[in-house]
Amino acid sequence: MKKIRKAVLPVAGFGTRVLPATKSIPKEMLPVVDRPALQYVVDEAFEAGIEHIVFVTGRNKGAIEDYFDRAYELEATLHQKNKSGILAQLQKGLPGPGTTSFVRQQSPQGLGHAVWCARDVIGDEPFAVLLPDVLVKSEPGCLKQMIEAYEQKGGHIIAVNPVPKDQTDKYGVIAPISQEGNIYKMSAMVEKPDPKDAPSNLSITGRYILQPEIFKFLEEQKPGAGNEIQLTDAMEKLMGTKPMEISVFHAVEFKGDAHDCGSKLGYFKAVCAYAIDHKEIGEDARGVIREICHLLE
Ligand code: G1P
Repeated sequence: MKKIRKAVLPVAGFGTRVLPATKSIPKEMLPVVDRPALQYVVDEAFEAGIEHIVFVTGRNKGAIEDYFDRAYELEATLHQKNKSGILAQLQKGLPGPGTTSFVRQQSPQGLGHAVWCARDVIGDEPFAVLLPDVLVKSEPGCLKQMIEAYEQKGGHIIAVNPVPKDQTDKYGVIAPISQEGNIYKMSAMVEKPDPKDAPSNLSITGRYILQPEIFKFLEEQKPGAGNEIQLTDAMEKLMGTKPMEISVFHAVEFKGDAHDCGSKLGYFKAVCAYAIDHKEIGEDARGVIREICHLLE
């Protein structure tokens, strides 16, 4: 079984649900307490053993490239001022030289198209996809939990979590056929189904382990929900084709909380969730939230 070494992070989206905040800042760079949302996702990838990250970017996303590079002037200034704590933090979150690639999506044709844009950098090996809109607060991280499942089952692995049945039209949803602990074997998946047609309430959370065969299905995939080329549709077509070892899909119901930072309320909730557990301000953040609760009375 090949190790999962590379991860694709699609970061080309406009962030329309949180405009105007994202007019000139990439949505992935919005801060969650003291770091950009994207840093949490990159940390999750490296924690799971990922060695190389492929960012699928677009215009106006230069801040992301700069953020994951050394900032010599800043580092020199912090050094001179003896600010070693923050300097160490800056250096800790940084991917090493040559461990990131940036490819351009060029036009917003959907998640499936974004993943397909990474095909040459991924090559012929299994890989992970992490959607940076979704922060999963868990220990171990969501991708690490999925890699444990991958080591047992192989094939493709999709992270899922239950959502209220009336919200299935916001997500990809899977059809489970059997369950072993927190791992489901699946028979189908559908993108943003109407609640009355949804095969379950298990939503696709934005973390995937995929075999490279997905690329040829993405290449041929026609636009689906929202008139976009959907990753879910291409996975659905690949599922069950021959040979089985590259077309079997399992879903992992991970332990942890998923926060959709692409929406105003999800972002607000993520900031609160990360603040109350923060090493430095956690206690005070709890106090602030209690204080604010009084305003509701
Ligand atoms: C994407 C996927 C969907 C998944 C969701 C998770 O949708 O297409 O299957 O459930 O991310 O956030 P999007 O939110 O980009 O419309």
